[in-house]
Amino acid sequence: MTQLWSTVADWLARRHALAGRSVGFVPTMGVLHRGHASLVERCRRENEITVVSIFVNPSQFNDPGDLERYPRTLESDLALLDRLGVDEVIVPTAPELYPNGYRFRVEPDAGSQVMEGAYRPGFLQGMLTVVLKLLGVVRAERAYFGEKDYQQLKAVTEMVEEFFIPTKIVPCPTVREESGLAASSRNVLLSPDGREKAAWLYRALTTAQGPAEAWAILDAQGFKTEYVEERWGRRFAAAYLEGVRLIDNVPAGEIRRP
Ligand code: PAJ
Repeated sequence: MTQLWSTVADWLARRHALAGRSVGFVPTMGVLHRGHASLVERCRRENEITVVSIFVNPSQFNDPGDLERYPRTLESDLALLDRLGVDEVIVPTAPELYPNGYRFRVEPDAGSQVMEGAYRPGFLQGMLTVVLKLLGVVRAERAYFGEKDYQQLKAVTEMVEEFFIPTKIVPCPTVREESGLAASSRNVLLSPDGREKAAWLYRALTTAQGPAEAWAILDAQGFKTEYVEERWGRRFAAAYLEGVRLIDNVPAGEIRRP
């Protein structure tokens, strides 16, 4: 049976009682899907205790409208985590995690301010700050992050190294629908037609000769593209479809060059 914690103090008392057992952690913003489930399943295999957090972190949203529109499905999320055999779920309020407001912040260097860092000002800072807080609260041996958000995974891995945080960051592959569309909490905001069209994001990333061609494919399908870029041995894109912001990336080996 999953146990639910909404205050840091109650959770820390519980954490104390778990001393001596290996603890794995999957941080999320809820609206859980197969991508999240794959992280949870891996965490369950590798740790005695699996902890999941659900917290829609205001400090990582640069657009207040995006924060407001972000979907929330707490009840079905909890039912899914229970079915997956998760031991502990932490659902803190904003004042629990930010008792003094947004007082201290983790600021990555200027070199990190590309792609998501450039197009969503404050995103990396807000995301890293809340992840540092959550890692401090959960005190896990291992924490699981998806390659779907590769820039996030990379920044978190580097932050944990820089601050000597004793949690190992474990990268997990992107889970996709049959169409190739990466599972995402934002997919529920698309119309059935949009959801079909959204698979072109993956198709463009994997079939285009270069970023310019990927951009042209997305244009032709009615996306409003923010960036297509190649770095770190991968190809990345962010684009709006039906007003919904979608991101994806693939390793160079997944690109089908003729
Ligand atoms: P969220 O978007 O809910 O994602 C939680 C975790 O699930 C992240 O590590 C993300 O990369 C992973 N994930 C999402 N979709 C995936 C997919 N299709 N395949 C594999 N993994 C996937 O990312 C966040 O929340 C937040 O920024 C958070 C880290 C919780 C900090 O607020």
